[in-house]
Amino acid sequence: MKKAKDLTDSSNQKPLKTSGTRGAGGDDDSFDLHQARKIAQATRTLVVGPYLNKHAQRASAKASPPRDPQDRLLEAASLTRAIQLEVVDAFIATLSALTPATYMGSGKVAEIAERVEAEEIALVVMDCALSPVQQRNLEKALGAKVIDRTGLILEIFGQRARTREGALQVELAHLAYQKSRLVRSWTHLERQRGGFGFLGGPGETQIETDRRLIEERMARIERDLAGVKRTRALHRKARRDVPYPVVALVGYTNAGKSTLFNALTQSDVFAKDLLFATLDPTLRALRLPHGGKVILSDTVGFISDLPTLLISAFRATLEEVLEADVIVHVRDISHADSDAQSADVTEILQQLGIDSASDIRRIEVWNKADLLAPHARTAAVESASHAATGVKPADMQPILISALTGEGLPELLAAIEARLAKGRVEMHLKLDASDGQGLSWLYENTEILARQEDGKGDIDLRVRVLPQMRERLERRFPGVALM
Ligand code: GTP
Repeated sequence: MKKAKDLTDSSNQKPLKTSGTRGAGGDDDSFDLHQARKIAQATRTLVVGPYLNKHAQRASAKASPPRDPQDRLLEAASLTRAIQLEVVDAFIATLSALTPATYMGSGKVAEIAERVEAEEIALVVMDCALSPVQQRNLEKALGAKVIDRTGLILEIFGQRARTREGALQVELAHLAYQKSRLVRSWTHLERQRGGFGFLGGPGETQIETDRRLIEERMARIERDLAGVKRTRALHRKARRDVPYPVVALVGYTNAGKSTLFNALTQSDVFAKDLLFATLDPTLRALRLPHGGKVILSDTVGFISDLPTLLISAFRATLEEVLEADVIVHVRDISHADSDAQSADVTEILQQLGIDSASDIRRIEVWNKADLLAPHARTAAVESASHAATGVKPADMQPILISALTGEGLPELLAAIEARLAKGRVEMHLKLDASDGQGLSWLYENTEILARQEDGKGDIDLRVRVLPQMRERLERRFPGVALM
């Protein structure tokens, strides 16, 4: 078994994500993810990549080209850490064929069972899609809880959904997941019954009841969702009243969003003194170079091979991006699949109505510059400046950064500020130097671009404000004038 490259370097770096929704725990007799949430904190977890070898992959006529197993494993480990599970180890179990009962062959299962026992593992994440029967068999054989990739992703979405609509979408996906599993296990029982010639075995009533309960819940959620969509316009308005512009970080999983989020906000005292910073650790306030404040929002990462069942739930968690004033697309420029990942992100953003090429809210960031070899770095700088020519104005060019070393972060902050400045107005005013209150009001509510004492007891100030702020400024300082 092969070990993953760097599994321990970031386990404590991620901000905790709050719980935003509840699913329909208890309706399924297989492992309940919502119990998992309770025990999740620091649960000792093994991540297993049970991937078919190349030969078997070719045989199983899969349309998309196989991804590098090591990358897949790293992604699975990073998803696991995203819900605060303690990843004790992650490794690949190469399979030459699938074993119907337990997915992996008995040798592999026994090997993992030994580790589970020796290392007191409570949870095994299998980076594949398991049938309920396989899941249950594995739980028995391993002596630990087992979840598969869909279950893991559902859990992450559940934790990250922030709006009511998002929470409902995730719950709906969760129910659909459970329902499909009931159907599958029901079919399985049917087959058994057929084989033995029994009619109406003992499991049937229970499964039918569970199925009906799930369907009723789904119907109720669909009704709630329709209601929420009707009132969404009102929510939009409420969001518009948020006092600061919102900057959303989006990007492929593992691109470095959370690392960047921490790097940008950790050094800023202001980041800690807002109530919502403690209520929701994926939102933090940040001060830009000229004192303007923004709210930085970390979003759930884009994931390859997202099960169809989860697509609308995923979109719902991204809903806030639509409302953002600036969208920072974080890319791992050192990744071999960087372009394909970027295309995926761009496509989903497009489906959300954000046209990457022309949306002036968008800033592209090329992260992990520190990992580039000198020649690759030169090429990256070159192609970044090239990307800005043609239809794009110069300030749309990608910014090369390293969230780890801090390289490029001042340029990124300046770019965010410049992007926000579009549509803002610059104003000039004179203030009596003794008006301490007035001055602190200005520091609180505007960006101070320049400040100069005129030697006669006045201060000359050049400030920049949102158009909607202009009226308040004029009321408080009647002498203020547009630049
Ligand atoms: P998801 O939450 O899964 O969407 O991932 P993310 O985009 O938030 O990525 P995260 O910040 O967790 O970073 C993923 C990995 O990349 C971690 O191991 C980080 O330490 C590493 N990383 C992030 N930024 C950099 C960087 O600039 N340079 C290097 N060398 N590593 C980085």
